[in-house]
Amino acid sequence: MPRTQVAIVGAGPAGLLLAQLLHLRGIDSVVLERHTRSYVEARIRAGVLEQGSVDLLTKAGLADRLHRERLVHHGLELLFDGVGHHVPLTELAGRELTIYGQHELVTDLVAARLDTGRPLLFEAPAVGIDGLDTDSPVVHYVHNGRTEELHCDFVAGCDGFHGVSRPAAAGLTRYEYEYPYAWLGVLAEVAPSAEELIYASHDRGFALHSMRSPTLTRLYLQVSPDASVSAWPDERVWAELRTRLDRTSGFELADGPIVDKAVTALRSFVVEPMRYRRLFLAGDAAHIVPATGAKGLNLAVVDVAVLASALTRWFADGDAAGLESYSDTCLARVWRVQHFSWWMTSMLHRAPDADPFTRRLQLSQLRYLTSSAAAATSFAENYVGLPFPEGAQ
Ligand code: FAD
Ligand code: DHB
Repeated sequence: MPRTQVAIVGAGPAGLLLAQLLHLRGIDSVVLERHTRSYVEARIRAGVLEQGSVDLLTKAGLADRLHRERLVHHGLELLFDGVGHHVPLTELAGRELTIYGQHELVTDLVAARLDTGRPLLFEAPAVGIDGLDTDSPVVHYVHNGRTEELHCDFVAGCDGFHGVSRPAAAGLTRYEYEYPYAWLGVLAEVAPSAEELIYASHDRGFALHSMRSPTLTRLYLQVSPDASVSAWPDERVWAELRTRLDRTSGFELADGPIVDKAVTALRSFVVEPMRYRRLFLAGDAAHIVPATGAKGLNLAVVDVAVLASALTRWFADGDAAGLESYSDTCLARVWRVQHFSWWMTSMLHRAPDADPFTRRLQLSQLRYLTSSAAAATSFAENYVGLPFPEGAQ
């Protein structure tokens, strides 16, 4: 494999978007992905995109299908004590949200990359990274049964939480917290039962009603962290969703065939700095937020936008300022989002050892949020996404 300017490890949203942003600025890259194309295009995960993320994708020419197929939301519902409370997000914070499945976005990004003719290798796991303290790092990867070397100027570690990039960096500090609960996520072939997302805080635990299209509903249930999918047959899932999404009047949860079911841990995790010499970490490789705030994918988008600008400056005229400030710029937003995601998670979930005192604090917070314009506005501006940092374009 010939040398490239940027070796990108991982073809998730972070790696694929970075590849495209670099391509638009004439910078060459090679993307290495451990899994098959069909695997990454079918992996059901996030669904909520901030307006800032959509604007960036649009500017990069990556959002044609997204604009045709997305659902645009201007509010959400918080459900507790059997009553739903509408939060008018756009009215409060001036931005809209887009519902568009992460696997659809990945499918679009893969197609865009292949169109450029630049390399994207599937079934090509990176197995190690060397030479990070030289001007020419090397990524070792396996392809077609052979171990290969990719020489480059920079490595972008976009390989998610379980990748090889972060372990290749020395001197990082980890900050983490594991929640005593997880999410069971299902995708069902049935029309959504409500127009908006419903975040429900119930005495039995959290539930979330979301959607992907007029015919696909996405639902989540708080479950124990050691729960297995086999312990949750479809009838149990629907019964528990009905209980937790129940309200005193006017709501019926429609059910249908469940076509995807998975358990996801809830975790808060950050490494500092997000860089080691010529290796830059982006997206889930550098930080994880609990899914409640719908922020992980959106954070990944901001990271690579900042990184693409920094690399552009460096390749254009050797200006390293953007690379030097990359980690601090990203971490400022990461910690704001960490706090918001932790706060929203703690407000809505039932801790296994929850005492009545804690439950009353949660309900008090929810009542405040749904009755005070100031509290609702603060929630809304975080949920719709704070403005992108300077330097992210
Ligand atoms: P990933 O998507 O994990 O991609 C990393 C890629 O690297 C993968 O394709 C992997 O196969 C590859 N890889 C790993 N190791 C190697 C290797 N050694 N060599 C080569 N390739 C490798 N976020 C939101 O913003 N909004 C939401 O609504 C939302 N909901 C979520 C719901 C669920 C159930 C889950 C699980 C997550 C949700 N998220 C949400 C988070 C979001 O999905 C992630 O933050 C996002 O996928 C991060 O993208 P990434 O590219 O950094 O990492
Ligand atoms: C979805 C996921 C989330 O984590 C969230 O907070 C809202 C919606 C979704 O997959 O639709």
